[in-house]
Amino acid sequence: MLKTHSCGELRKDHIGQEVTLAGWVHRRRDHGGLVFIDLRNKEGIVQVVFNPETSPVAHEIADGFRNEYVIQVTGDVSRRPPGTENPKLPTGEIEIVAKEAEILNTAKTPPFYINEDVDVEDNIRLKYRYLYLRRERLKNNLLLRHKVIKFIRNFLDSKGFVEIETPILIKSTPEGARDYLVPSRIHPGKFYALPQSPQQLKQLLMVAGFEKYYQIARCFRDEDLRADRQPEFTQLDLEMSFVDEEDILNLLEELFTSLVETVTPEKRVLKPFPRLSYIETMERYGTDKPDIRFGLEIKDISSIMTNSDFAVFRTTLQEGGKIKGICVPACASYPRHQLEELTQLAKSFGAKGLVAMPVATEVSNPGQATIDKTKTVVAKYLTAAEVQGIVTKFEAKPDDLLLIVADQPKIVNKVLDELRREMGKHLNLVDPNLLAFVFIVDYPLLEWNKELGHWGPMHHPFTAPREEDIPLLDAAPEKVRARHYDIVCNGCELSSGSIRVHNRELQEKIFHLLGYNKREIEERFGHLLDAFEYGVPPHGGIAPGMDRLVMLLAGEDSIREVIAFPKNQSATDLMVNAPSSVSKEQLDELYLQLKPELES
Ligand code: AMO
Repeated sequence: MLKTHSCGELRKDHIGQEVTLAGWVHRRRDHGGLVFIDLRNKEGIVQVVFNPETSPVAHEIADGFRNEYVIQVTGDVSRRPPGTENPKLPTGEIEIVAKEAEILNTAKTPPFYINEDVDVEDNIRLKYRYLYLRRERLKNNLLLRHKVIKFIRNFLDSKGFVEIETPILIKSTPEGARDYLVPSRIHPGKFYALPQSPQQLKQLLMVAGFEKYYQIARCFRDEDLRADRQPEFTQLDLEMSFVDEEDILNLLEELFTSLVETVTPEKRVLKPFPRLSYIETMERYGTDKPDIRFGLEIKDISSIMTNSDFAVFRTTLQEGGKIKGICVPACASYPRHQLEELTQLAKSFGAKGLVAMPVATEVSNPGQATIDKTKTVVAKYLTAAEVQGIVTKFEAKPDDLLLIVADQPKIVNKVLDELRREMGKHLNLVDPNLLAFVFIVDYPLLEWNKELGHWGPMHHPFTAPREEDIPLLDAAPEKVRARHYDIVCNGCELSSGSIRVHNRELQEKIFHLLGYNKREIEERFGHLLDAFEYGVPPHGGIAPGMDRLVMLLAGEDSIREVIAFPKNQSATDLMVNAPSSVSKEQLDELYLQLKPELES
């Protein structure tokens, strides 16, 4: 090794020892003769002092150091002079008094600061990702990711799980996104699909008798990207035989709880994980990804407003819409421009408008809350009974602000979910150290796909319906409940899973409902259906997204910050410049031809 110790490991106990260190120049200061270097490697930073009197040669070499040079230093560990200790650094009580130094490699001036966590333009930090990863925060995120995966492996090993790899070159498995396709050279005109998840393979491993499988699995989906989506990402993919919903959910609750306690003990977990039905979460939060760290729950006032004189409310209800809102505490005094901003926000998510109703004290009865008619635009349309009904429904107190949306249920839910999150953030109601996991259960199995004119799976086609709902598959498919569960944390969908269909007939029936014809079923899923005829155990599983999990544990807002080499918003890797063109010879080998407009 070119070093005896790591920079960050040196402490008081090392005082008096001669050490050789190697790393990067994090910062360099020249203090009237003395040169101070903060030397950095993966484990941390230590201060090195070069004294021109005692070590003139080393000092002269240090004179040539610049930020990010790679250097090697030999010196003695010494106590820092009193008053110069740095309590912010774990090595802050000591410094290395250099005796020898060598430049192992020089460095150009980086395109952004490595030693400060200041904003860097997106394209630059992705292009120079290897430099961005030198930053303390990013480095810590990747070290955290390592610890999380190591913990999970040990935990699952202790529970009897076996880690099994499955192929990347495979056949399309539907998870709701487009496939990435790989042309085959050996079979001209044929394509592999990269797995959107190892869903069918893990089910086949259950048929094979492994009983408890997991894999830290890479998945590929060609879909629109956003902060919590990448074209390739990692799942903890897991499947078990002879289980029901409770077995999977209890295992995951134990896994996440012990993971947080061990790996990020500074975070708190809400225990036990609450369970919400799909219908209840939609009612209370407008979304099946609720952030339950704070209240501001949605209330439905449709039944109070059925005979409203306010035309918008009345016609919305007549057209099958809903009138719902949230009660924001102590915000009645919001000035007009702030209400206007909230209205614009609501409109940006599809609302036609936003009705703000500040709450005041009833003049004739000071103990009573009422809607402040002087500040409510629609006040003149509200009867006393309606006012009373609204105040009671929201349990509103004087000085609260009611934000009401009237529209079709989908829009009302979307807008109020967004407003609720925004107000939760704005009013500091969100505890950043709390991890509020919640199980969402009782999803519908199917949803109607208007464009295609047939049912689509709410999740994927392999999810089992509730036993007692199977007869409804013919009579009322929309009423069939799935044996599906989601795990949501702090408003982020972390995992999806289900108990699976394990019977050929039922699986075929579901494929038919989903619009696949006999030939398509055979072509796409024949292997699975065949396997179902050879003694398949009842089974189920789940797949938490690793990138999202580490993002939440690291307190980041985007999964990019916990992935070593992510792609940008348009699925481009700016560092290696992928995707890129290939040569004509490569295309010829694959029997592929570009459309003329794409040929350069
Ligand atoms: P699902 O499609 O819900 O289920 O995916 C499971 C979890 O994977 C993560 N995830 C993503 N993370 C980053 N970028 C993406 N593009 C992306 N897409 C999904 C999420 C999500 O909750 N085979 C089933 C699981 C099962 O039924 O066992 C599946 O893949 O955290």
